[in-house]
Amino acid sequence: MKISVIGTGYVGSVTGAGLADLGHHIIFVGRDQKKLDLIQSGKSPIFEKGLDELLAKNRDRISTSTDMVSAIRESELCFICVGTPSNADGSIDLQQVRDVSVSIGKGLDSDDQYHTIVVKSTVFPGTTEGLVIPVIERESGKTAGIDWGIASNPEFLKEGCAIEDFFQADRVIIGTNDQKSRHIMESIYEPLKVPIYTTSIRTAEMIKYASNAFLATKISYANEIGNLCKRLDIDTRDVFTGVGMDHRIGPDFFRSGIGFGGSCFPKDVRALIAGARSVGIDLSILASVLKVNESQPLRMLSFLHAKIPALHGKTIGVLGLAFKPDTDDIRESRAIPVIDSLIREGAEVVAYDPMAMDNFRGLYPNIRYAKTAEEVLSSDAVLIITEWPEFENIDYTGTVVIDGRRVDAAERSAGWYQGVCW
Ligand code: UGA
Repeated sequence: MKISVIGTGYVGSVTGAGLADLGHHIIFVGRDQKKLDLIQSGKSPIFEKGLDELLAKNRDRISTSTDMVSAIRESELCFICVGTPSNADGSIDLQQVRDVSVSIGKGLDSDDQYHTIVVKSTVFPGTTEGLVIPVIERESGKTAGIDWGIASNPEFLKEGCAIEDFFQADRVIIGTNDQKSRHIMESIYEPLKVPIYTTSIRTAEMIKYASNAFLATKISYANEIGNLCKRLDIDTRDVFTGVGMDHRIGPDFFRSGIGFGGSCFPKDVRALIAGARSVGIDLSILASVLKVNESQPLRMLSFLHAKIPALHGKTIGVLGLAFKPDTDDIRESRAIPVIDSLIREGAEVVAYDPMAMDNFRGLYPNIRYAKTAEEVLSSDAVLIITEWPEFENIDYTGTVVIDGRRVDAAERSAGWYQGVCW
């Protein structure tokens, strides 16, 4: 099948490469010609393990375009994978979704074949029916469910293992109200041999938010219990190993520490709270999830003060800047509030990350960046923000370490060691 994928960010490029590998012809549509050129030459526009190989392998089934209207006309199925960034009040900015819907409507205008539009961007429940469908109907003069199809197909990919998550998904969620689109979507995902759950459009949209918000809740819960465990001298990791053995609870996403960052959990929880507020519902559990997540990284500072009361003029090392290992992504990284506090208190910051230093330099050009992790160890104290595997291969002897992620080598060998929740 000929499929257009609008948006060449993380969701679009992984989805498009995955669908190309399933044998479809993909037209990647974007505004940034440089990114499109990279894709066309079989290279990934983002850092994601295995994506270069997947794009290169399927190069002859991949084309690119900046012309959305023609791409729609040329394809039978179209995935909307554009960003939905946060507004100041936590709600999501739908400008890109709106713009794309206008172009899709124009593309459908002169198109005779049945075309299904799939919303993969994370949008608040009701957005597809309240915004995407009316805009496309207005621009095309054609009726959804009769002249063209529409589906919601949220993504559950994790950065760093997105390819694996695409091919071995726990489930594929398809939200659609028309049979034809349902059959097309099921046939697209059938070769993956993973569970497919078909539901209404707004239910599918809600499944995405409810999933991310629950995972974020698990993390904040593990962090709160972790804070208590530390005070009571109980090993929180052992506690959650035992808790996770209950199949009703499960072992994943119970790693306590300095909380969640990235482009999804903080944004999605905020959007769910803001969207609920706009219809008069107060999501107080999720408000607390965010509150715990904001205070958790600052616990590092209180442990640091216990060892070094005045930070002015002291050199403080930071190991890890990415929001998690195996990515260069620094969006909402826990390193940001920690480094802000260190700078405010007059410390000299020297940071190291195997992959994210270039991105971080854009935000913080004035801190010092080390060439190796070892170089950071000579600081007055070292804060571990991201659990990169290579940080397990360091000898921390003689170093003051405050660990936000539980790096065993640091716990074993540091001169003075405090874990955030253990
Ligand atoms: C998350 C979800 O896991 C994906 O299912 C979803 O598709 C994606 O958001 C999205 O909505 O696009 P991602 O943000 O890539 O994926 O990364 P995660 O592995 O979920 O980690 C998020 C944050 O939680 C990281 O900062 C990580 O350090 C933190 N975390 C994770 C913990 O603090 N403890 C844990 O036990 C797990």
